Formats: sequence, C-alpha cells, structure tokens
Amino acid sequence: MIFHIRLFFIIAVLFALPIVTHAQTPQPKAVETKGLDVPATGKAKSPNVADKNSQREQQAGGESTVMTTQQGIPVGNHQNSLKLGTEGPTLLEDFQLREKIFHFDHERIPERVVHARGSGAHGYYENYKSLADITKADIFQRAGEKTPAFVRFSTVAGSAGSPDLARDVRGFAVKLYTQQGNWDIVGNNIPVFFIQDAIKFPDLIHAAKPEPDSGFPQAQTAHDNFWDFVSLTPESMHMIMWAMSDRTIPRSLRFMEGFGVHTFRLVNTEGKSTFVKFHWKPKQGLQSVTWSEAVKINGADPDYHRRDLWTSIKAGNYPEWELGLQLFDEKFAEKFGFDILDATKLIPEELVPIRIVGRLVLNRTVDNFFAETEQVAFCTQNIVPGVDFTNDPLLQGRNFSYLDTQLKRLGSPNFTNIPINAPRCPIHNFQQDGHMAITNPKGRVNYEPNSWGGGPSESPAKGFQSHPAHEEGSKQRTRSEKFADHYSQARQFFISQTPVEQEHISSALVFELSKVQRVDIRASIVSHLMNIDGSLAKTVAAGLRLLEMPSPAKALKATRMDIEPSPALSIIKNGPKNFAGRTVGILITDGVDVQKLNQLVDAIKVEKASVKLIAPQVGGVKGNDGKLITADEKIGGGPSVLYDAVALLPSEDGAVLIAADPAARDFIADALAHRKFIAYGEFAKELLEKVNPNSTNRPQLILLDQSNSAQIFIAKCRSLRNWTD
Ligand code: HEM
Repeated sequence: MIFHIRLFFIIAVLFALPIVTHAQTPQPKAVETKGLDVPATGKAKSPNVADKNSQREQQAGGESTVMTTQQGIPVGNHQNSLKLGTEGPTLLEDFQLREKIFHFDHERIPERVVHARGSGAHGYYENYKSLADITKADIFQRAGEKTPAFVRFSTVAGSAGSPDLARDVRGFAVKLYTQQGNWDIVGNNIPVFFIQDAIKFPDLIHAAKPEPDSGFPQAQTAHDNFWDFVSLTPESMHMIMWAMSDRTIPRSLRFMEGFGVHTFRLVNTEGKSTFVKFHWKPKQGLQSVTWSEAVKINGADPDYHRRDLWTSIKAGNYPEWELGLQLFDEKFAEKFGFDILDATKLIPEELVPIRIVGRLVLNRTVDNFFAETEQVAFCTQNIVPGVDFTNDPLLQGRNFSYLDTQLKRLGSPNFTNIPINAPRCPIHNFQQDGHMAITNPKGRVNYEPNSWGGGPSESPAKGFQSHPAHEEGSKQRTRSEKFADHYSQARQFFISQTPVEQEHISSALVFELSKVQRVDIRASIVSHLMNIDGSLAKTVAAGLRLLEMPSPAKALKATRMDIEPSPALSIIKNGPKNFAGRTVGILITDGVDVQKLNQLVDAIKVEKASVKLIAPQVGGVKGNDGKLITADEKIGGGPSVLYDAVALLPSEDGAVLIAADPAARDFIADALAHRKFIAYGEFAKELLEKVNPNSTNRPQLILLDQSNSAQIFIAKCRSLRNWTD
C-alpha cells in the first residue's frame, strides 16, 4: 500500500514538474520552513506534500522515523540549507548543514598500506576434539565448542577500489574471539612468502605497488619495478612460482586454501612446546579461473569475489574450511632439509601430514562494510595462552608492524573498543584515555599495584607465559646459512603441477615479463628459472623471444634435484568432489522449452549448485507454455566467464535472433575457449557451429536430448573443465 502511495506521489510530482517550475518564479519573500510537531523518537509523516516548501523539492516518501542530527536534535528540513531569502547566501548559523558536511568531509580513513581491498564475513570455529595434550589454548580444549570468528579476505597490491581478479596473493586473516582473548591468524592463500626478513617488506611492497612517478599500473605486478626487485632477490623465487600459478586467480574466496605461513608453537599445561603450521582446507575444494577469464571478469564484475561471498552466505550456502595442523618437534626441525623459521619454505604434507582439528564456517554477512570489514584490525601479535611465536624473522617484524599500522589507520590506541575488534571476553586493565576512549576504568584506582583493594592483577597460572626457549648469541645483522637454498622448493612446486598448470605458470611469466620494458630484467628472471627447471626457462625465453639464453643465476646453494613432487600442491589434483556451490549460466530466449529448462534446473539444484538465467532482456522471456520467466541478467551483462558451466536453450527463432548478437556469440566462444562444460538444446546446434565450426563434436558439449541428459551434464561439470580436449 505504501508502495502505491509512493508511486502516486512520484507520478504526481513528475507531472507537476513543469507547472511548479513555472509557478515558482523566484520570490523575494522568504519561504517559511515548517518544523515537525513530533518527538524525535516518534514516526513522522513525510513532509513532502503537506509542507508547501517541500513541493519545490519534489520528493516522495511515507511514514518514517524522525531524522535527527548527531546530537539528537530533530531535523525539520533536510532538503535546504538555511539561507537569507530564497536566493540569498547560506548562513553560518546553519548548524545542521555544518555538522553534516563536516562529518562527510571526514568519512575516509587511510586505506591499509597493503591488503587494502578486502571482503569480510562472520562465522565460527568449531573444535572437533580436545587438543589438551598439545596446547592449553582455551579454544582447543572442548570437543564441539564453537568460538565466534571474523574473516577478512583481501588482495595485497591493489587499492581498495581495485578489481577482485587481479593476479595477486590473497590475504586470509582470521580473528578468533576466544574466551582468553582475541587470537588472529593473519595468513595468506599461499603457504610461503617472497622474503625471509621483515626489513625487506617495505621494498617488496614499494616494488609491487604502482610506480611512484606515474602512479600505475594498479593492482598488477606486471611492471619493471616488481620484476627488477625479484630478479635481485632470489629468495622470492619459490613464492614467484606460486604467484604465477592459478593460485593467484581463485574462482572464489570460498575455493582457496589458507595458511598461517610461519611456524608457530603450541604449548600445553606442562610447558611442552610443539611446532605448528596452520592450514585452512576449503570443504568446497580448490578452483581457479584462467587468466583470460580473470581479465574479462575484472571488466564484467570487478566485485566478483566480494559478490560471491555475500550471495553465497545470503543464500545459506555457507563456506567452510577445516583447520589443519602440521605438528612437529625439534628433532624433525633439525633433520628437515630447510629451516623451519624460513617463511619462503613449506613443509610438504607428504612429510608431515595435516591433522584436521576443527572447522571454520562463515554464516553471516557484515551489517556494515565500513564498521566491520574496514575497521577490523588484525594483528599477528594477538596470540593467546597456549600459542607462541618462533624466531621467524619475518614474523618478528610483523609483530611490530600490525599494531603500529592500526594507529595510523584507525587513529587511536582505543581501536580495540570498536565492536569488531573488541574481545568477547571480559577485559580488565588500567589502560585509559586517548582519542575516543569509550571503556575507561571506573572508580578512583587506575594503577597497579594499589592498596585500595581489588585487582585486576596478574595471574602466573592463568596468564600468558612466553615459552622459555633458550637463546644465545652475539648481535649481528646476518642471515642463517640454513636460509640459503632459494630454488629447490621452487622446483618442487613446479614439478608437482599437472602439465596444464605448468603451462599456465609459463604463460603467466611470459605475460608479466612481456610488460617489463628492460630486456636485462627479463633475461635475469630467465636466469633464475634455469635454476628451477630448464624446460620452464626455455619456454619463457622463447615466449619472450630472448635473443640468447642467459647463464643460470649464481646460486648460494645448488638446486636439489632429489626432491619428490608433492601432489598436495596442485589445484587440479585437489579439485572439488562435486559441483555444489558452483553456478550454471543458462541462456534462454522466447519460446524456450520449459520442460527441458525445468529438468536442467532440477538437476542443478539436486547437486546444490545454482542457476542464473540470461536472456535478451532482463525482463525475461515467454516460455513455450506462454508464461513469463524472469531473467537474472541480460545477454552481455552476464557473460559466460561469470559461470562455472553454461547451457544454451534458445528456441528455433530465438537461436536465429541471438546469432546476430555479438555478446551472445562471445558468451558461447568464451565458454568453449575456457573449456567449460556446455549443455545445449537442439536449436543451439547451428548457433554453436556458427561460432566455432565442429564444436559440437567436442567432449565438453552435451546435447540435452535424453531424459537423463541433464544428470550426465552435471556429472561432467564436477571436473569443472574439460582439460583433456
Ligand atoms: C607471511 C607474510 C605475510 C602475510 C601472510 C601477511 C598477511 C597479511 C594480511 C592477510 C593482511 C590483511 C589483514 C586484513 O585483512 O585486515 C595484511 C596486512 C598488513 N600486513 Fe601483512 N603479511 C605478511 C607479511 C607482512 C610483513 C613482513 C609486514 C611488515 C613487516 C606486513 C605488514 C602488514 C601491514 C602493515 C598490513 C596492514 C594491516 C592493517 O592496516 O590492518 N605484512 N598482511
């Protein structure tokens, strides 16, 4: 009903527009501004028509809560500033205008210096089994206990408005609101890092970000500065293999792994320490897009990942990861071929199996992006009793950086008072004051020890105790010799990939290095690749058309050729078990065979996947039963790169019509090129052949001509793409 009234007002106002405009030739007389005779908390009738002043403003509206200023003063007119006469100057007295503009002027806070583009969601961690033998961390004590969590996924190099499908590492930061304080596992979707020592971090980031004079390229490492830095920093070679793989173009945030990267410690009540590496394993399986898709998705839907996280959670399709621990002791650390404190190395799962201990479920979107996703402050130094750091020099530097940066970004040491950062357990201390102090201690006492009676005071038994690791040595700025092998694990990563994935790595290297203008930098990277894999180096050199092959880069330690491949490192070998959580884009036209469409939609739903209907107009099509079917996207607005598989169900006339539409032809050509599975009805055959002759013979195409064709199509979709053809 309200909707009809609103519509009436809009129409009435639209028709009235020319008359009102003419009638309101400027009047020298000031127009009286009518206030609202209702309390701020009550419902007010919209002023629009009743208020003669508001007739000039042409707004529509209905019953709503009375607007107030930030000071709670009810607002009488929100359309006009206070002026002298109708055309006179604005008056300084207008506190309402000044407050509103003042607040707007200060809406922005500095974006994160890295990981500026991010998307967050709420959920919980559920512990499967007590881990009391390994750690006293409260979160791991009881089977089945759920701990609230907030996760922020991010890209690293781009600014807050950069597209989601940039080739980049993804941040995977998890805040666990445990009963013994906040524990942040601030990780990435890659288990290793570019550098070994935090002192190199500003250089790495400066080199990756837009070049300082021109301010471009945005959210891309495909430029001279980045590759120049890399060519002079061989320790980055292992991470470069990961960065050039499909890991950096995930299909969705739901389909990627997370890693704590560093080696941490878990400590039990007896004080026994066990080394640990944290893994988040997506229950949805791993999946990435191709580079060609990534480029197109960035144009078609720059918010592709953010939207996917949001819509999946809203649809009740909650993403889940299992928490896995790689646990090992000093003895393993000593005999392992690399230093466990070196963040450019991983411990293969085949060597130290991952023990699954719980699950992380994201089941609630944020209410407000700024308040939660933007203001959340992850800090590596937020650990709880039962967890401890190691001497990883990258981690040690991070432990300073994150707290420091929050002051710059959030502006006050009281950032822990912001609800998203506030612990969900009681806080007792005498920290006070500062900008925006909200939870100052009550009463007379604000120091410890005091004789006024009452704490808070420390508890050696319950409180955090650092693991008493024995350390000695002279002060020096050096790096351990055990950090010197920069190529062996890079090689292991490369040889663990399927041929398709290896081809993607070499193409990515050729693409990025082709954007590098200096030939010597291109050649220098190839010289490092020669220490990783000879055939990779040759393919990249040929792709760049290097005139002569450089000599291999000088290596501090020769590459070990005896390391076995680790199948766990391949995405294709660790794909999903089913098609659940994926999306099929179905192209339909007027006259679509409704029975066929329903059969297909039913089969997709049984698989717990979803459907998007794409039609010539978003208003929809009329099926062969004469009924209207509304569409989700218009052809062109929903290109096939946005879907995991597609189906083509035009009618005979519809097929002729859309054959002339370049966007429809792109839809088909892209799906074919990206090796997606394509289901099609009989009238799409000619269309397919027009776009790509002989395409209907390809095994990725399934003709919907049998009663079980839809099921056959979905079964094929489980392997996501037809890589073999
Ligand atoms: C293993 C290496 C690293 C990983 C996995 C990592 C991961 C992350 C993640 C996930 C974020 C985003 C947090 C969020 O979503 O709010 C982040 C932000 C940040 N990282 Fe790192 N990082 C690494 C290394 C470093 C190093 C070495 C430094 C500095 C010495 C550093 C400094 C920062 C800073 C300043 C931010 C911005 C934090 C904020 O404003 O909230 N990171 N990092």
